Amino acid sequence: MPTSFLRKLTDAQSVFTFRDFILLPGRSEVEPSGIDLSARLTRNIGLKVPLVSSPMDTVTEWRLALEMARLGGAGAIHRNMPIGKQVEHAKKVKAAKVEALSADSKGRPLVGASVSPLDAERCKALDRVADFLVADVAHFHTSRVMDAARKIIPDLSSDFIAGNVGTSQAAFDILDELPRVDGFRAGIGSGSICITSEVTRVGAPTLFAVAQVASALEERGVDVPIVADGGIRGPGDAALAFAAGASAAMLGSMLAGTKESPSPLINKEGKRYKVHRGMASASARKVRFAVDRYSVPAKGLDEGVEAYVPYVGGTEAVVARMENGLRAALGYAGAKSVREMWRKATFGSVSAVGASELGAHSIEVK
Ligand code: XMP
Repeated sequence: MPTSFLRKLTDAQSVFTFRDFILLPGRSEVEPSGIDLSARLTRNIGLKVPLVSSPMDTVTEWRLALEMARLGGAGAIHRNMPIGKQVEHAKKVKAAKVEALSADSKGRPLVGASVSPLDAERCKALDRVADFLVADVAHFHTSRVMDAARKIIPDLSSDFIAGNVGTSQAAFDILDELPRVDGFRAGIGSGSICITSEVTRVGAPTLFAVAQVASALEERGVDVPIVADGGIRGPGDAALAFAAGASAAMLGSMLAGTKESPSPLINKEGKRYKVHRGMASASARKVRFAVDRYSVPAKGLDEGVEAYVPYVGGTEAVVARMENGLRAALGYAGAKSVREMWRKATFGSVSAVGASELGAHSIEVK
C-alpha cells in the first residue's frame, strides 16, 4: 500500500493543455456563415466576436482596444503605467468617433481596464470610465487579494472580472466570499511569454483552468462567463476553450505583433518584428506599476520573458482569421454558437506519439 506521500504522486490529477485534445466532428445543422460567434464577456457585456486583447504593455493601449471594439471584440488597457495615464487611454477609446460593433448603451466603443484589487485608487479611478475591470493578478486565489476584492467590489459600478484563477476551489471561494463577480479570467502558466510553471513548477494550464472553473459554476448553477487566458495560438485553441466552458478568449501574443499594439517595430535581418514581453519579465517589472501582479515574495523573481513576435500588420486581418477559423471549428464540432459548444462539443485525447499526424507531415518544407 502506498503511504500518504506516495499517494500524492499515484493519485495526482491529470492536467490538460490545448495540445492534448482535438474536438470530434459532430453533426452540423448550419453552414459556417450561419454560425453565431457572439458571446458574453461578463454578466452584462456581450461581444459580437468572442475575443479580448490581453492587458499587457506590449499589447493593449487605446489604439488596439479601440480596434478590437470596432471589430466586435474588446480590449483591456494594461496597468503598467500611472493611473492617470490608464484613465486617459480608456477615455480616448470612449471618445473615439468610430462605429464600433462593441458599444455601450450610448453607442460609445466598449473598453476594459486591468486593475489589481490591492490598488483601490486605480480601481476607483477606472470605474465607470471603463466598461469592465479585469483583475490582473497572477494568483487571485490569495487571501490578501480576495480580502481587497471583497472590500472594493461594492464601490464599483463597472463589471468586475476575477482572475487569474485555475481551480474549482478558487471559483467556489470567489463565489462564496466576494459580494459579486461578473466574470472569471482562467489560466495560470500557459502564456506564450510565461515561465511561471517552469520557474515554480506551479500552474493551471488554460484549458484545464477553464474546465475547473466551468465545473464549479455548473455545480453551483451560476451563469458567469469565463474568459480563457494564455497560450491561445489560433482558432482551434479558442474552440477547445469554448468546448471546456469558456465564453471568450483572451489574446496576448497573437495581437502583440499587430500594427495597433504599442510595442516598437523592429527590423532584424530584413524581417519585421514587434517586442512581446511577460508582465513579470525583468524589463516590464522595471516600469514598476504592475509589480503586484505577482505575489510579494515573488517580486524579485522573473516569471516572464521578453521576446519578439513577427509583425503581422493590421489587427483586422488577425481577427478575421480567428473568426473564419472559429466558424469552421464550430461547424465541424456541430455547434451553431459558442454556448452550444458547451453542450455539443466532445473531446478526443491525443497521444504524444500521435500528435505529429495532426499537422502537416511526410512532406518536404518548401
Ligand atoms: P499569450 O499566450 O496569449 O498569453 O501571449 C497572454 C497571457 O499571459 C499571462 N501573462 C503572464 N504569465 N508571466 C506569466 O506567468 C508573465 O510575465 C505574464 N505576462 C502575461 C497573462 O494572463 C496574459 O493575458
